[in-house]
Amino acid sequence: MNPIVDPRDFPASSKCTYLNAANVSLMYQGAEKAVIEWQKDLAENGSINFDETAEAAVFGDLHRASARLFNARPEDIAVGSSATELISSLAWAVAPESGTNVVSTDIVFPSTIYPWLRVARHTNCEVRLAEGKNSYTDPDDVIRLIDDRTAVVCVSHVEYSGGQRYELKELAGVAHDHGALLVVDATQSAGAIPIDATASGVDALVTGGYKWLCGPFGAAVMYLAPHLQDQLDPGLVGFRSHKDMWDLRADRLEFPATAQRFECSTMAFGCAIGLARSIEFIVDVGVERIFSYNKYLANLLIEGLQERNVEIVSPHNEAERTSIVAARFPGKDPGEVARKLKAASVMVSARKDFVRFSPHLYNQSADIQRTLDRLDEL
Ligand SMILES: Cc1ncc(COP(=O)(O)O)c(C=O)c1O
Repeated sequence: MNPIVDPRDFPASSKCTYLNAANVSLMYQGAEKAVIEWQKDLAENGSINFDETAEAAVFGDLHRASARLFNARPEDIAVGSSATELISSLAWAVAPESGTNVVSTDIVFPSTIYPWLRVARHTNCEVRLAEGKNSYTDPDDVIRLIDDRTAVVCVSHVEYSGGQRYELKELAGVAHDHGALLVVDATQSAGAIPIDATASGVDALVTGGYKWLCGPFGAAVMYLAPHLQDQLDPGLVGFRSHKDMWDLRADRLEFPATAQRFECSTMAFGCAIGLARSIEFIVDVGVERIFSYNKYLANLLIEGLQERNVEIVSPHNEAERTSIVAARFPGKDPGEVARKLKAASVMVSARKDFVRFSPHLYNQSADIQRTLDRLDEL
């Protein structure tokens, strides 16, 4: 398969073999440029160019780009500094009451569930975690935990460890049949897997920007379904939370009627501008195309690993797989394998008792071959 992006858009891709997007991806050069330019202008000119009007409008491009990414409207998108921050604000906004429950899995990334655990300490709601084995959770085990007392089902669209993918529409259907919300952490899928927020029926979906979206640290977005937008009082509030942020009166707090009520403060705004650039780039390349290309790379890797008797931990079936390839090297310490690969200029991550490979759009088949060659040398 031919490469789908120009390597010049990811200058770092020529420096090493980078199979680590599930940790931090290489950044799209247009995003890097935007972050640096914004920061430089602020450092050298203060608010001469970044005045009050510019500050009020600063998230516009990111709202529009994210709306294109998720098939939503710009008013359905809120910007924050990290996925953790947005999930936390949402968890406090929903604050499931005593007697209700929150359903998730015990292999989910901590940031997806800790905010709900924290709220549960306060409200005394129950948190039910489906038990995962070998970095995999049977979706039916999640569904079995949902009942009429369930307030929220909160899952990671793709599990960070083994790369298992959940069918969002099915989960949304079951959650809604029981009057629960489906909240999705898409940090390991947005930019790599097509997401139609509207058609899937998710109630809220959050993603960080520095993994599969190829953006910087410091910016994240949340999609909030229209029916919730005037219902939820965000857990985190500040001067930007008021419907007219420059009103600045201390004696009132009226939220905008849109998802943007979850935007509360100043932040490293250049990161939001940079993330808008990288999402525009990803959408223009086409997420469906990226998904097939990444799976092609992952297949090459899986075949090569299996020829070398390495155990593949990630799901193999089409409905649940992604391009995250978790592999167990019998008798080898995964941290040691990752360190040796790094010394040989191949970047991967050790997670639990396996090595996690995560190729993305800037990789080519030669990267996979080089990785297998380095493994042979080890
Ligand atoms: C599924 C998932 N959610 C959230 C995060 C962390 O997000 P942030 O750093 O934006 O808070 C990670 C990081 O690995 C992750 O894998």
